[in-house]
Amino acid sequence: MHIHPAAAVTGALLGLSALVLSATAAQAAPARDQPGNPVTVSHRGASAYAPENTLASIDKAAALRIAWVENDVQRTQDGKLVIMHDTTLNRTTNVETLFPSRAPWKISDFTLAEIQKLDAGSWFNRKFAGERVPTLGRYLNRVEHNHQKLLMEVKAPELYPDIERQTLNELDNAGWLDREHLKSRLILQSFSADSLKNIHRQEADVKTGFLGMPAVADLPAYARFADQINPSHKTVTTAYIAAVHRLKGPHARPLELFTWTVDDGPTAVALARMGADGIITNAPDVVRNALEQKSFGLFIPSFP
Ligand code: G3P
Ligand code: CA
Repeated sequence: MHIHPAAAVTGALLGLSALVLSATAAQAAPARDQPGNPVTVSHRGASAYAPENTLASIDKAAALRIAWVENDVQRTQDGKLVIMHDTTLNRTTNVETLFPSRAPWKISDFTLAEIQKLDAGSWFNRKFAGERVPTLGRYLNRVEHNHQKLLMEVKAPELYPDIERQTLNELDNAGWLDREHLKSRLILQSFSADSLKNIHRQEADVKTGFLGMPAVADLPAYARFADQINPSHKTVTTAYIAAVHRLKGPHARPLELFTWTVDDGPTAVALARMGADGIITNAPDVVRNALEQKSFGLFIPSFP
């Protein structure tokens, strides 16, 4: 069937204006990831544009209309849960200036009151001066306020005995273990299989992801406690993704695969074509836009 050029151009313009209008109308809430595309996950927030693992970084993701944010949870000396990637404070705060005699500046050697004195923004850019290391509680409230979804990593759990129980309790107290959050807004992930088994044993309804790339022969064992296998994009292959998808996880759904950390469009599109279910990125706008262009490319009107 041939489409008249004028009709095709009019149709394309109407489609474009509908897209612009819907983007404007939905400004307050994150956009839905397009069906058929992997979900885009903001790694440590939109950490290419704002200091990682801060409220500013998830607000930036929200401003970019990105629904999913990834973070890392650890524990202070006095037993409070905070959001930070490194197990030490010196890379992403001014701890060396405020506490020069406390090397090696482990999170587990500082109280929450001490950590809350730190500036977690200036290292990234002066315009973020005064940004704080968030507690898990404050972070959860902001993710909720932003209508976002959370991929939370239990970081270095071997350092923090029983952090799984404590994390689940905080999630529960903040309303994150209700049916809506469990169904579509929360995933807990870790590089530690033991930690994930612990989570699955305590709260079997929570969706979990294993960070790493187990041998294909070992995947059935992981599928007993993990809903996702989440490897580095540098090692993943089409065959591996297919092997993951062939199995069902503990909730009787096909295993998924989210891959990290991908900051350029062509790699994101290649991984989408390989079958990845999620792409974890510091630059979520770059990945989301590339994935959308890939989809819209299928619908460019053809002229006779
Ligand atoms: O979500 C994947 C990624 O966070 C794992 O690596 O070191 O950034 O926590 P890392
Ligand atoms: Ca992480």
